[in-house]
Amino acid sequence: MIQYEDLKKVNQTLIPEYISLLSEELQKGWYILGSQVKAFETNYANYHHVPFCVGVANGLDALILGLKVFDFPEGSEVVVPSNTYIATILSIVQCGLTPVLVEPSIKDYLIDVTQIESKITPTTVAIMPVHLYGKVCDMTSILELAKKYNLKIIEDCAQAHGATHKGQLAGTFGDIGAFSFYPTKNLGALGDAGAILVNDHALFDKIKALRNYGSEKKYYNKYVGLNSRLDEIQALFLNLKLPKLKEINAHKIRLSKIYEENITNPLLIKPLLGDDINTNVFHIYPIQTEHRDALKKFLFENNIQTEIHYPVAPHNQEGYQKMLFGSYPISEYLHAHLLSLPISFAHSEEEILFVCDVINRFKP
Ligand SMILES: Cc1ncc(COP(=O)(O)O)c(C=O)c1O
Repeated sequence: MIQYEDLKKVNQTLIPEYISLLSEELQKGWYILGSQVKAFETNYANYHHVPFCVGVANGLDALILGLKVFDFPEGSEVVVPSNTYIATILSIVQCGLTPVLVEPSIKDYLIDVTQIESKITPTTVAIMPVHLYGKVCDMTSILELAKKYNLKIIEDCAQAHGATHKGQLAGTFGDIGAFSFYPTKNLGALGDAGAILVNDHALFDKIKALRNYGSEKKYYNKYVGLNSRLDEIQALFLNLKLPKLKEINAHKIRLSKIYEENITNPLLIKPLLGDDINTNVFHIYPIQTEHRDALKKFLFENNIQTEIHYPVAPHNQEGYQKMLFGSYPISEYLHAHLLSLPISFAHSEEEILFVCDVINRFKP
């Protein structure tokens, strides 16, 4: 069986060194906000050429803290794509703010920047672009809009570690870059982990306090914060894995090219490859087809696992019926027609060629 993902294989070359460093680390007896978190924050900020990074517990908290730091008035509106993973929208709701959904482009599945301006009202405070599936949104246009309407930008970079727009890395355009290191991400930890990139010193200080009970000084709570600290043992692993991110992304890009060149079945539409303006690090390789269920079944019968990202659009999720209204046909269409093919660092080129071969034999 070609599994959709094989994390053991993805991480296997790093594990021996990790175990040896972990045993050293354990001898130190310092488990919370220690030297590994500090080192990762420096390494991750340097990788992005930004001054500051704050390690947090997960990607959802990175988004929540990225909003919370601005103390927006309750009920303020935040523009967000209608086709994202629920965490983006949940972060807005958790902060007492109002998500305003904008449809994606049917071409690249990213927020349709031509639709944003009509959704901006006097109570809009921020735009939350999501660099979905591995490709950066049109940040040139989003930055212009943010400037025109004096809005903050909180980038959801959970799926785009190392992706660029005009040569600039995801997470470095807006006021806040929020990352998840959930194990399946291009830069994945061994459990939950996340980080925030920020340019502004005052925001950096405040986020650092907010992730630690709002405290700058032990037992003194300047803000109402969260307990959302990046764990030392995750930071240790991330410090080892970060230098490998380039190789991981290059491998996934290589596999995407194999799909692009070898899938010839006209019943499906392949995702756009990256180009000089927008690279694509292919966190996910989503193909579009009217025959999704049949193709998924056919692939499974041929020993190929696939996934659906995501089966239900946020506005149709049961728990969100009292807060997300309206109709989002493009988003609904994509949620009903996209199928994610295997594209892991663990997959070989031969395996991907096999997937192409099976897909080309598919007839509904
Ligand atoms: C687009 C997006 N945003 C946010 C998150 C939340 O990250 P986490 O699962 O680390 O909380 C994820 C990942 O799961 C995601 O894919």
